[in-house]
Amino acid sequence: LFAVDFEPVGRRGKCPENHSLLECARNLNVDIVSICGGMSSCHRCKVQVISGDVSALTAEEKSALSDRELKQNYRLACLTYPKGNVKVHVPPESLTAPQRTQVEGLELDVEPEPPVLGLEVRAASPSLSNPESDDLALWAALVQHQVPRGTIDLSVQQSLSPQLRDLDWRVRVALRENEIVALGAPGTRWLGLAADIGTTKIAAYLVDMESGKTLASRGLMNPQISYGEDVVSRIFAAGKSVENAAKLQRLLVDALNEAAAAMCSEMNAEPSNIVEAVVVGNTAIHHLFLKLPVIQLGMSPYVPAVRSAMDVKARDLGLQIACGAYVHLLPNIAGYVGADHVAMLLATGISEATDATLAIDIGTNTEICLNHEGRMTSVSCASGPAFEGAHIKFGMRAAPGAIEHARLSGGKLEYQTIGGEPPVGICGSGLLDVVAQLRLNNVIAGSGRMGPHALVRKRDGMAEFVLVERADKEPITVSQKDVRELQLAKAAIRLGIRSLIESEGLPEERIQKVIIAGAFGTFIDVESAIAIGMLPPLPLERFSQVGNAAGTGARLALISQTQRLKAQEIAARDGYIELACIPDFNRKFAEASSLAGPVLQT
Ligand code: FES
Repeated sequence: LFAVDFEPVGRRGKCPENHSLLECARNLNVDIVSICGGMSSCHRCKVQVISGDVSALTAEEKSALSDRELKQNYRLACLTYPKGNVKVHVPPESLTAPQRTQVEGLELDVEPEPPVLGLEVRAASPSLSNPESDDLALWAALVQHQVPRGTIDLSVQQSLSPQLRDLDWRVRVALRENEIVALGAPGTRWLGLAADIGTTKIAAYLVDMESGKTLASRGLMNPQISYGEDVVSRIFAAGKSVENAAKLQRLLVDALNEAAAAMCSEMNAEPSNIVEAVVVGNTAIHHLFLKLPVIQLGMSPYVPAVRSAMDVKARDLGLQIACGAYVHLLPNIAGYVGADHVAMLLATGISEATDATLAIDIGTNTEICLNHEGRMTSVSCASGPAFEGAHIKFGMRAAPGAIEHARLSGGKLEYQTIGGEPPVGICGSGLLDVVAQLRLNNVIAGSGRMGPHALVRKRDGMAEFVLVERADKEPITVSQKDVRELQLAKAAIRLGIRSLIESEGLPEERIQKVIIAGAFGTFIDVESAIAIGMLPPLPLERFSQVGNAAGTGARLALISQTQRLKAQEIAARDGYIELACIPDFNRKFAEASSLAGPVLQT
């Protein structure tokens, strides 16, 4: 038996010698994507061997893996056998959906320079000969930390006198610039809250303000969804009445309060230990969260009420964290390019790229940025909720039973469902795979029209491809209309990319790096996305999938003042193209909706 360690899921156990890494993973309940069931034909079970001896590379693996992957010790789990104790990294795209959430992202690798410092002091108790007031006694004690006298938040001041006496004049102060924002017993661990509020989902993180370490995280749905799937419907809902706007704000705050409380209880801490928060979201979400007017965002020329970074008291928004704590909001760029985009750019480091680099955050709304020779330009495209399974006949979110990967082989469809459950529908990555496979096998023409095939049938006059026959229920299908929905979504993204590179006069093949962010983008098959012409046909090694980069950016801004300044510099530097204003929009959009894949002609 060999010890096998799967990271970052953190599953370890013993595995027999004659078991492949895929079998070991199954034994240890690590769900690795394996559409072909371990027959070495789907090439989706990629893992990276970090340490330890494994069987020799097979010819099959050599042809399935890129040069870069081979150099980095990537292997196909179904063809690799441990020869001793091994440590294996399972990249997010190789994990099936139940083991991932929208909180996964890049690790933080900056030195913490927290905006809130924890300082421990012993204040002098007053006496008749020294009848000093409590506030000045505290400031006098802070002199030992070279802290000049500043201000004390009113809520802290209101409880200062009894607290000093209860704690025998020894306290831990949370100091933000020159303001005391919280006070606790000696040894109190000050925490921070970072949140990325997406149109559909929210990712929240609890961070240690001193070490910068992420202690806990939560992924949850954005409860505003009951007011509409996209931001435009929420803008109009909020614009209808003051009560609606207040309700939409309350929904976000309640969700964050709940997430903060749950993460704190996991860490045996109190929400009152959270002394700073950073919240990012698109411009509409940012405005709704701050109770700012949003109506102008829904009308041409779509201007934000605020672009600058802001610091506001958490209590003014209803956030139940330390009473004197602040929420920092990163700057917005434009009406449809918000602080979450800035956070994504910060986390991916695209502003420092020296090669032509694209960063794409795929979601209900997709934001794309191109850095070419130091010039950064962004565009926002309404890709719609098709990737979330909305408006697709058997569409569903990534949940157990959703077909998440598929392949057409020898006229038969092979598929994998989330959790290995009996299929109940199809999620975004599955739809992308199916349409790509149908296109590659010429079942669908470049125009998107579905042609004849043994699995294509007509229903109510519309062609549909049968994915799964079910004894007692209607078969699960992808219809001609579903293909059209996907075409609209992918056309928006491809046109966004095209408008950016054309504005720079840059041929597509000169893009050296494509960073794909966002929960959905991280789990798509890049080859499928290229096959349907959603992404440019570049060598696969130029693509990287980085998880929730906006969440990572929010955490960076939470723990580092320098990162906050950098975010402001990025927002000031980033240019913006309004997609609807590009010349000949309709023709270009129609071209971009082609499933032909290869380079689009101007
Ligand atoms: S499971 Fe390894 S190639 Fe399919």
